[in-house]
Amino acid sequence: MSSTDRGARVVALISGRGSNLQALLDTPPGTLGGHIVGVISNVPGADGLARARAAGVATVTIDHRQHTSRETFDARLLREVLAWRADVVVLAGFMRILTDVFIAPLSGRLLNIHPSLLPALPGLHTHRRALAEGHAEHGATVHFVTAALDAGPAILRARVAVRPDDDESSLAARVLRREHVIYPLAVGWLCRGRLRLHAGAVQLDGQTLTAPLDLDDLHPAMA
Ligand code: GRF
Repeated sequence: MSSTDRGARVVALISGRGSNLQALLDTPPGTLGGHIVGVISNVPGADGLARARAAGVATVTIDHRQHTSRETFDARLLREVLAWRADVVVLAGFMRILTDVFIAPLSGRLLNIHPSLLPALPGLHTHRRALAEGHAEHGATVHFVTAALDAGPAILRARVAVRPDDDESSLAARVLRREHVIYPLAVGWLCRGRLRLHAGAVQLDGQTLTAPLDLDDLHPAMA
């Protein structure tokens, strides 16, 4: 991974609130092993854009509605990411399905965080579905992005016990607090060159993971 004084160059893609972006912005470059050089939103006026600006980070809005196909939108996104010379690209609440036009050139450098214990509950409304399906456990997963939606190789998960009195918003809030822990951790591993996607498998520190790591099981030295 190329490095400067402030480590790897990270570009974040957002569509909304940007609390995971904020968690990354709040992680000192010395801890993250990188810094956010730019934020792209596909939604004009997304709250996360203001968070980026407040942190002095450059922003661009690329409105998907101005593009005639997913591929032309993705090509435009890719041009922006390449112009920023991104080493690492993170999806942080980015609500557009990406095609291989964007994904393939960034293979192994593109991460997403998803609010469920993947492979359970890919897609939308995960908290509502976890409750409706009576899951005892829920959580969040950081994974490499591949063309298969929410199905790229999983890296790190955080588990949250579902409580009898949970509703969608209480459960979402508890999961989100864990997201803000695992995303900076995994992004940091990638920024520092500790994490690799090799032949479809995840390697951390040269060891192939046979299953995603669990935040609660992490040895302090790994974090
Ligand atoms: C998070 O729950 C994330 O897991 C999902 O979208 C949500 C984004 O929230 N991909 P925020 O914009 O980071 O606050």
